[in-house]
Amino acid sequence: MERLPLNKALAQAGDLATKGIFSALAGLGSPVAQAVAHAVKGGKGLRAFLVLESARIHGVSPDRATPAAAAIEALHAYSLVHDDLPCLDNDDLRRGQPTVHVKWDEATAVLAGDALHSLAFQLVMDVGTLPENKVCLSQTLARAAGLRGMVGGQEMDIAAETALKQLTLKEITTLQAGKTGALIRWSAMAGPRMVSADTRKLGVYGTCLGLAFQIADDILDVTGDASKVGKALGKDATAGKATFVSTLGLEGAKKLADAQIDMACDALSGHGTDADALREVARFVVSRDS
Ligand code: IPE
Ligand code: IPE
Ligand code: MG
Ligand code: MG
Ligand code: MG
Repeated sequence: MERLPLNKALAQAGDLATKGIFSALAGLGSPVAQAVAHAVKGGKGLRAFLVLESARIHGVSPDRATPAAAAIEALHAYSLVHDDLPCLDNDDLRRGQPTVHVKWDEATAVLAGDALHSLAFQLVMDVGTLPENKVCLSQTLARAAGLRGMVGGQEMDIAAETALKQLTLKEITTLQAGKTGALIRWSAMAGPRMVSADTRKLGVYGTCLGLAFQIADDILDVTGDASKVGKALGKDATAGKATFVSTLGLEGAKKLADAQIDMACDALSGHGTDADALREVARFVVSRDS
């Protein structure tokens, strides 16, 4: 079957995830519910796409896998709503729109994030798979989201702003593997987990992709066009953040990202041309302008 162009496939994955989240909001109209709807719109759909593609190459149809795509996009949206709060990054713009605490207020943003977090675990239970696979998806999502994953990475990121000495490359890599890498890795590993298959290859792919993704985010913070990226740029240097660019320089960061993409694609060799969309999205992650 003809493959959709990547931009269309990403948009389609994002739309499926958004619809899954919206159906859980049916009948709700409070400010927090409106803020939840606002927060899930306008993303690139990368994590949803990774879930659906890793599922597809393991023989799992989109209708069975979409709840996992919706779950990870809900969790990601929560992480962004809280990341943008004044007590964390204090950002006014996200996905080209005012952030939740700016459009509503801080209490609404905290609660919208809380609601999205809970919703993610509700949605993951709707994946079309055996109960033991749902347990595995849920337990690994909890770990990826928590202190050994995204929250742990965010804690290190905030601590690094006020640290007296620059983090080493190893420390920055550990920080990012939690902050950004854990959710991307979970997305890539969701497919094999839906059929109790070996997750190692997709785990390597997800780890390398997650690292490359954050390097690209750090590069965009320095060289990006704010109107395309849809968020304030130049903030990492102002905040004194430890990033791949601050440590390796632009060229060094770009080289490391490219090397990660090569490793990510190598890990897919056993899947042949069936994994071409995953290869293409890996190259997109380091060449994107938003
Ligand atoms: C942004 O992620 C936040 C980071 C983890 C660096 P994305 O760039 O994937 O955000 P959206 O979903 O497309 O807005
Ligand atoms: C945020 O990282 C990652 C999470 C939300 C966990 P950043 O703070 O670098 O993301 P942006 O640049 O605000 O999107
Ligand atoms: Mg941040
Ligand atoms: Mg931020
Ligand atoms: Mg950033």
